Amino acid sequence: MSFLQKVDKQHLPRHIAIIMDGNGRWAKEKGEDRLFGHFHGVESVRNIVEGAAEIGIECLTLYAFSTENWDRPQDEVNGLMALLVDTIKKEVPTLNKNNIRLNVIGDISMLPAHAQKQLNEALAETAVNTGLNLVMALSYSSRWEIIEAVKNMALEVKSGNLLPGQIDQTVFQQYLSTKNFPDPELMIRTSGEYRISNFLLYQLAYAELYFTPTLWPDFRKENLYEAIVNYQARERRFGKTGEQVKNNQNQV
Ligand code: IPE
Ligand code: IPE
Ligand code: MG
Repeated sequence: MSFLQKVDKQHLPRHIAIIMDGNGRWAKEKGEDRLFGHFHGVESVRNIVEGAAEIGIECLTLYAFSTENWDRPQDEVNGLMALLVDTIKKEVPTLNKNNIRLNVIGDISMLPAHAQKQLNEALAETAVNTGLNLVMALSYSSRWEIIEAVKNMALEVKSGNLLPGQIDQTVFQQYLSTKNFPDPELMIRTSGEYRISNFLLYQLAYAELYFTPTLWPDFRKENLYEAIVNYQARERRFGKTGEQVKNNQNQV
């Protein structure tokens, strides 16, 4: 039985977030340079986006480039940026065919001007799609996002549009770049690293974490479905006791 068959389609996570890691090591294993790994990582992105859309996931966030990744060697940064923006542009017809809406979170102002332009075009061209929300985290870091939210809230308070006493979790969430999406229920990281690396720190508060040694260029739909099956076998307690959770389920 495949993992696809094992997935309970009635209880899918609405939002899956993935730290796509291990491209460099994948390339190194093959005696190639790091960009070769990124190039093959794109094939995994295509496959996983298709796989998520096929089973009806509402939202898929992919961590493609972190704020900290700007500090990598210039050749790698340039190659990776060109690859990312080029791929996004080329994929627009496929996204439209599959009713997928592209979204971007991150400090896009750090991207070269032509890359920003291509990205904005791709966002506009898929804006009417109503299927899967594909969120690319590009030049993203969670601390950056949280500081931006605080700055923008401070400006609203200063201008009198927001009272400090009104700030609660619902209001704060509206200042995050993920304001249009539910919090991820499942976070996957490939390549055997057990850390969050500045990704969605606020939004992952109660996410189930799934770590796999598979390197990103080897990650395919069946690996995604395996992660979902693993997620579905877990008990999410949100601070309650296991008994409370079970009793509640029996009442539903
Ligand atoms: C993930 O692969 C892609 C990005 C971070 C851009 P890495 O490039 O981090 O690959 P490893 O972790 O060095 O193997
Ligand atoms: C996290 O991977 C960022 C992305 C996948 C885009 P890194 O490879 O940059 O993370 P660290 O440095 O191992 O924590
Ligand atoms: Mg890495």
